[in-house]
Amino acid sequence: PRSIWLSRHGESEYNLTGKIGGDSNISERGEAYARALPSLLRKSGVPPNTKIVIWTSTLKRTIQTARHLKAETGFEKLEWKALDELDSGVCDSLTYEEIADKYPEDFKARDDDKYNYRYRGGESYRDVVIRLEPIIMELERSENVIIVTHQAVLRCIYSYFLNVPQEKSPWMEVPLHTLIKLTPRAYGTEEKRFKADI
Ligand code: G3H
Repeated sequence: PRSIWLSRHGESEYNLTGKIGGDSNISERGEAYARALPSLLRKSGVPPNTKIVIWTSTLKRTIQTARHLKAETGFEKLEWKALDELDSGVCDSLTYEEIADKYPEDFKARDDDKYNYRYRGGESYRDVVIRLEPIIMELERSENVIIVTHQAVLRCIYSYFLNVPQEKSPWMEVPLHTLIKLTPRAYGTEEKRFKADI
């Protein structure tokens, strides 16, 4: 059967300072994850002669994370704008502390209804689910794909395959430096997680 692998980008410079959004580079640790990713993928079990297509967003941190994977495997790579991180609008490049300080009402509104809350000038999780529709359609007709993208986006894709109601996607656990392997089976999607040793 075919599988879909999901990974967040390696730790970014913004992850280190607690800022959201932006288009920062990966950190040294993030680079260690990028280097570990080809062997992590092998360890997860790839049948011989299996071709896997690499999908990333258009942001630097996902492209940098997939770089060694691409170089070592020679797999085809596609960059999708639709895989870019949830757009946090006016809150882009702020920390959660700064958001709570500058936009206290928004901060509370998001806490009350994280799925529907739309950042000013940005997106909600609901918006992300809608913009992911073409991605999901393409995934459904693809063979093996490894998707290197962002936390909010992965939470939505993960929920789709695990049959979790989309409203619950904002709370799915998708940690850094962990490769998630999903294999759709007749009785449901089988999930395995592989944490990088870095
Ligand atoms: O800004 C996007 C983050 O990756 C998602 O974090 O939705 O839990 O704030 P959050």
